[in-house]
Amino acid sequence: MTSLIAAFLALMFVVNLAKLVLSQNEHICLPVPRDALGTLQSRGPRGPSGKRGIPGPQGTQGAKGNPGPPGQCQCDLSEVVELKKRLDRLDRLHEAVREELCLAGVKSGKVRDDEMTASSINKQDYSAHEGRLDGERFWAPQSSKYQTPGEWLQVDFRTPTKMTGVVTQGGGGSWVTKFKTSFGNSTNQLQVIEDVDGNDMIFQGNTDGTNHVQNISPNPIRATYFKIIIVNFHGGIVLRLDYLTC
Ligand SMILES: *[C@@H]1O[C@H](CO)[C@@H](O)[C@H](O)[C@H]1NC(C)=O
Repeated sequence: MTSLIAAFLALMFVVNLAKLVLSQNEHICLPVPRDALGTLQSRGPRGPSGKRGIPGPQGTQGAKGNPGPPGQCQCDLSEVVELKKRLDRLDRLHEAVREELCLAGVKSGKVRDDEMTASSINKQDYSAHEGRLDGERFWAPQSSKYQTPGEWLQVDFRTPTKMTGVVTQGGGGSWVTKFKTSFGNSTNQLQVIEDVDGNDMIFQGNTDGTNHVQNISPNPIRATYFKIIIVNFHGGIVLRLDYLTC
């Protein structure tokens, strides 16, 4: 019995001693069992992907492109050209009809010779009254003033007459390219036709020595005296004219 108690006590001593050693070595590294290591190394199935991140800032502008190749006209202009020709023919017809119906009497001789006056004349062959539309001769200023802007040719219609425009013509190799017009009921009260800005209106005259050019006034004018004042010319000042009453 005594030996049994002694054995029990000895066993208790050994167990307590082991407990004491273990409690003082809690952080002791115990060898990991082989199967536990295998579990740590194997991986589970891959999880779902994370959400897409917010977009980054906008990039800088790209470089300018190269110019394209030259374009090519693919339209058919022949119809436009044809239409323009027809309109030009209509314009000429309209002008011819207008002259047929509306000339004021300079060409016809209804306006007498002494009712045509000029700033100056070049000999008798170029008197003011020779300045009639389609006349055999024409008006030209005195030779020293043949190329002097400001020379003028005036017609006296005796009574106030409504005018809508003027027809001019050159002669030989000379013609008037630009002119002004003045009008009035008395020779010392003539007023120049003005544009909307109040400047003297410059009319475009002839481009050759034979063809008529019509200039239509912005408004019909009623007056007795009508004067053409030369602004520019080709070669020299040579003029034939008539006025339009409609
Ligand atoms: C000339 O007189 C007529 C008739 O009196 C008149 O209608 C016309 O306005 C006058 N013209 C000018 C430019 O004064």
